[in-house]
Amino acid sequence: MKYGFIGCGNMGGAIARALSSVTKDMALSDRSGKGKALAQQLDVFYQDNVAIAENCDFIFLAVKPHMMKAVLLPLQDMLAKRKPVLVSMAAGLTLETIGTFAGCVLPVIRIMPNTPTAIGKGVIPFCCNEAVEAAVLADWRQDMACCGLVDPLEERLMDAASALSGSGPAYLYVLMEALADGAVACGLPRDKALQYAAMTMVGAGEMALATGQHPGALKDAVCSPGGSTIAGLRELERHGFRGAAMDCLLAAYARNQELGKQ
Ligand SMILES: NC(=O)c1ccc[n+]([C@@H]2O[C@H](COP(=O)([O-])OP(=O)(O)OC[C@H]3O[C@@H](n4cnc5c(N)ncnc54)[C@H](OP(=O)(O)O)[C@@H]3O)[C@@H](O)[C@H]2O)c1
Repeated sequence: MKYGFIGCGNMGGAIARALSSVTKDMALSDRSGKGKALAQQLDVFYQDNVAIAENCDFIFLAVKPHMMKAVLLPLQDMLAKRKPVLVSMAAGLTLETIGTFAGCVLPVIRIMPNTPTAIGKGVIPFCCNEAVEAAVLADWRQDMACCGLVDPLEERLMDAASALSGSGPAYLYVLMEALADGAVACGLPRDKALQYAAMTMVGAGEMALATGQHPGALKDAVCSPGGSTIAGLRELERHGFRGAAMDCLLAAYARNQELGKQ
C-alpha cells in the first residue's frame, strides 16, 4: 500500500482527507478505534500500526511528539527490514531524532503542516534526510500538492515556520472571532459578522499573494486620510497589536524549541 497514517487526529486526519482525493491506496491507524469512522468516510483501509509498518511505502507519523518514541519502538525490526519512508509532522522532533527512534537508517521526511491542509489550502514546509531518493521525493511532492503549498525549507528554520504557519490558523481564528464580536457590538447579526470576517481574511490573503504587494502598501490603500479605517488602526497601534503578534510568534517558537529538547 502506498500511504499509511499512524495517528489520524486533527493533523493526520487533515492530510489523509486531502490525500484521499488523489489515492485510496491508504490505511489509517489510531489507538482508540475512532479512526475507523474516518477511514470509512474516506473509503480507505483501517489497520493497526504493525500492519501499516508491514505494508506501506510512506508512513505518516501523526502522533503527539512525546508519544513518538513509544510508537516507533515496537516497529523497529519491521522498519529496518523494509525501510519505508517515514513522514513525521511532530513539532520539534528533528530528522535525526526520528531516525534514532526508528532504530535504523531509513528515509525520513519532516513536515510542518497546518489544518487548512484538509481543504487543500495548507502550508507544508518540509525537509528530508539524504536517504530520501530524488525520484521518491518528487512522487511524494506530486501527490502532496493536493494539500496546498508544499515547500522545501532548511531544517533549522522548521521551528520558526511551525510558529507561523503551523500555529497560525489558531491566531487568525481568534482575530476573526474578535473582529466578528466587534461587528456584532455594532449591530451586525452573528452569522453575517462571522461570514464577512472569514471572507475578508481569505480575500486579504489572496490579494497579497496575487498582487505580490507588501502588506503595508495594501493597508495604505484601505486608509483614506481622515477616514474610519485609519481611526480603527490607531486603536490597534494604541493597544500594541503589532508587538503582541510578534511576541505571540516568539512564544510559539520558544515552545517548539523546548519540545524538541524533551
Ligand atoms: N494540530 C495541528 O495544527 C498541528 C500542526 C502541525 C503539526 N502537528 C503535529 O501533528 C501531530 C498530531 O497532532 P494532532 O493535533 O493531530 O493530535 P491529535 O488530534 O491528538 O491526534 C493524535 C493521533 O495519534 C493517535 N495515537 C496516539 N497514540 C497512538 C498509538 N500508540 N498508535 C496509533 N495512534 C496513536 C491518536 O489516536 P486516539 O485518538 O485513538 O488516541 C490520534 O489519532 C503532533 O505531533 C503535532 O505536533 C499538529
